[in-house]
Formats: sequence, C-alpha cells, structure tokens
Amino acid sequence: MKAVCIAIDGPASSGKSTVAKLLAKSLGFIYVDTGAMYRTITLASLNNNIDPKDESGLLALLKETTIKFGWQEDGQHVWMNGQDVTDAIRSSKVTNLVSEISMHPSVRQELVARQREMARDGNIVMDGRDIGTTVLPNAQVKVFLVASVEERAKRRYEENLSKQIPTDFEQLKKEIEERDFKDSHRRVSPLIQADDAQLIDTTSLSIEEVVAKVKDLVKKQLIS
Ligand code: CDP
Ligand code: CDP
Repeated sequence: MKAVCIAIDGPASSGKSTVAKLLAKSLGFIYVDTGAMYRTITLASLNNNIDPKDESGLLALLKETTIKFGWQEDGQHVWMNGQDVTDAIRSSKVTNLVSEISMHPSVRQELVARQREMARDGNIVMDGRDIGTTVLPNAQVKVFLVASVEERAKRRYEENLSKQIPTDFEQLKKEIEERDFKDSHRRVSPLIQADDAQLIDTTSLSIEEVVAKVKDLVKKQLIS
C-alpha cells in the first residue's frame, strides 16, 4: 500500500480530533493533533510569563520546548519537556489565549517544520487548521469539517458536562466564535478550506457517519 497522508481541518469542535483518532486507529495510521502543539507552546508561555505579543521570546521558548505524543490506556497524551500536560493544555486559560500565540509567523514556521517531520513516512492522519493548505499540501485525502456554531457549542458543552466542568453555554458559544474569527483572519495560514479539500457538514451527522465518509474518500484515493 502506498504511504497516505490524510489532512483534516475545520473550526473548533467540528469533530476533527474524534474523527481523526478513530480513522487512524482503524487504518493503523499515526495520529497527530497539531492543535495540541499550539496549546503546548501557549501553556509554556503562561508558565514562563512571556508576553503573547513577544514573538521572538515565544520562538526562543518554543526552540527549547519538546512536544511529544504517546498513547496510554485512557487515550492520547501530550508531554512538554517530559511533563504530562494532557489536561493542562485544555484549560480555559490556554483555550482563550491559543489563537493569539498561533498567529505569530515564526511560531507557526517552527511547528509546521516539526509537523512535516512527523509526517515524513506517511500513513498519518493530521488534524488542525492549515494542514491541507500549508503543512501537507500534497496530502492525498483532504477533508474540511464544518458544523453550525450552535451544534459545535452544544458538543463542547456536553463534553464539559461529562467531565463535570461547570460551563455557561452562551459564553462557550461566544468564545468559540471569537476563536474561529481570529483563526480565520490571521495573516499567515488562516483557517480556510483548501481548494482540493472535501467539505463535510457534520451538523446532523454522527461520528460514525463522518468516519465512514472519510473512509470512502480514502478508499477512492487508494484505488485511483
Ligand atoms: O480542539 P479545538 O478545536 O478546540 O482546538 P485545537 O485543534 O486544539 O486548536 C487550538 C488552537 O490552535 C486553534 O484555535 C488555533 O488557534 C491553533 N491551531 C492553529 O493555528 N493551527 C493548527 N494547525 C492547529 C491549531
Ligand atoms: O477536534 P475538534 O475541536 O474539531 O472536535 P472534537 O473534540 O473531535 O469534537 C468535539 C465534541 O463533539 C466531542 O465530544 C465529540 O464526541 C462530539 N462530536 C459529535 O457529537 N458528533 C460529531 N459528528 C463529531 C463530534
């Protein structure tokens, strides 16, 4: 089988990581969550009191920050310089700052280089905002997942409820809209659908239905 790269992009809570993980598992591919990498440098900046506008300070910090992924019984974990930061990078403090950190061109350049290195041998599912347009423009399968903001806020709200994280629905929806706006309007590799990506509106689809659709695209690619 030829080496395949699958790029999954889309706005917050469109289902990227859930779908990407299931797909990677069933195909036996590596899964890379690029959002976790932007979240990790954001956490590092908070821990080290680096001003979010200080691009050179952020880049220097990133250069000395290792980001590693690995699987444990309860799912994928992320380590920052050897420390497990799986939960810490999902805090609302990190979530509300990450778009400001990820707009810096040199921070993106460094992370994109690391992401391409991870994808060097193919057979990978990578999700994020700029995978199909910038990180892996030659990916054989590109998917752009969308869903209404109401539905995406509902999904995140229910996820928070199941983890017993107190959440105000309207506030959550507003934060998702603000993050989408920042991600879509930054100068360097904004969140946009690649010309050759397949758009899938997941608003009324189950996770299984989305996975099946992407698998069909992979099959078509492999026999073409
Ligand atoms: O899971 P969720 O959709 O909330 O976000 P994420 O995938 O963890 O990404 C967090 C943030 O990282 C995004 O809002 C973007 O600001 C940034 N990001 C990016 O700029 N480029 C990527 N390839 C992935 C994430
Ligand atoms: O990675 P991203 O932020 O795009 O979204 P996610 O973390 O994969 O999905 C957010 C939540 O929506 C998860 O709790 C999923 O189980 C749920 N989801 C869903 O209910 N229906 C879908 N078609 C996709 C995701």
